[in-house]
Amino acid sequence: MVRGVHFLVAATFMGLAFSLAYAYDPSPLQDTCVAIDDPKAAVFVNGKFCKDPKLATPEDFFFSGLHIPRNTSNPVGSTVTPVNVAQIAGLNTLGISMARVDYAPYGLNPPHTHPRATEILVVLKGTLYVGFVTSNPDNRLISKVLNKGDVFVFPISLIHFQLNVGHTNAVAIAALGSQNPGVITIANAVFGSNPPISADVLTKAFQLDKNVVDYLQSSF
Ligand SMILES: *[C@@H]1O[C@H](CO)[C@@H](O)[C@H](O)[C@H]1NC(C)=O
Repeated sequence: MVRGVHFLVAATFMGLAFSLAYAYDPSPLQDTCVAIDDPKAAVFVNGKFCKDPKLATPEDFFFSGLHIPRNTSNPVGSTVTPVNVAQIAGLNTLGISMARVDYAPYGLNPPHTHPRATEILVVLKGTLYVGFVTSNPDNRLISKVLNKGDVFVFPISLIHFQLNVGHTNAVAIAALGSQNPGVITIANAVFGSNPPISADVLTKAFQLDKNVVDYLQSSF
């Protein structure tokens, strides 16, 4: 009897896990659903409005230029070139995207999260110190130094970063599990929100002097 109950509980949890997994990553329901801006020319809706599949072209599934090094002359010394549904309309409903990241020597892709996607990153050139931090209460840092050919995973929604610790440029390609992963850059969201978060919130949350909060808010 007890064993039977255990089996029932286990089966229920497995069923729950499977149903959550299915709910999490919806099927596209059709072969193609090229995103289209004009709803009058749209036929199906599953994500963005989609183009009549008969009118889909190779260009709808194409992007060029990811071999081009990007300008990293900015305060953090890194530049992300996204290739998601905004660049390839044919990615609509398909649940994946990618990005190229260029890093100047000692350049940083600052702490950020992707609210809708896990990321898997491969280093094509250079040496990166990368890491992510698990949620409360552990806040455990899982980090590693990566070299050319190394691959690392950043689980969905966790804060992560990459720092070029080499004295040459570095390049990485990331693949992400969403057509539109989203990005929240922590410093910009917290200290650079529009309108600004009250300094009373930030002084207490970060245990900082008001002057420091004013300075940080003016920097972002
Ligand atoms: C890179 O960007 C910086 C800052 O915007 C600019 O001054 C510089 O001319 C750019 N360099 C190239 C090669 O485009």
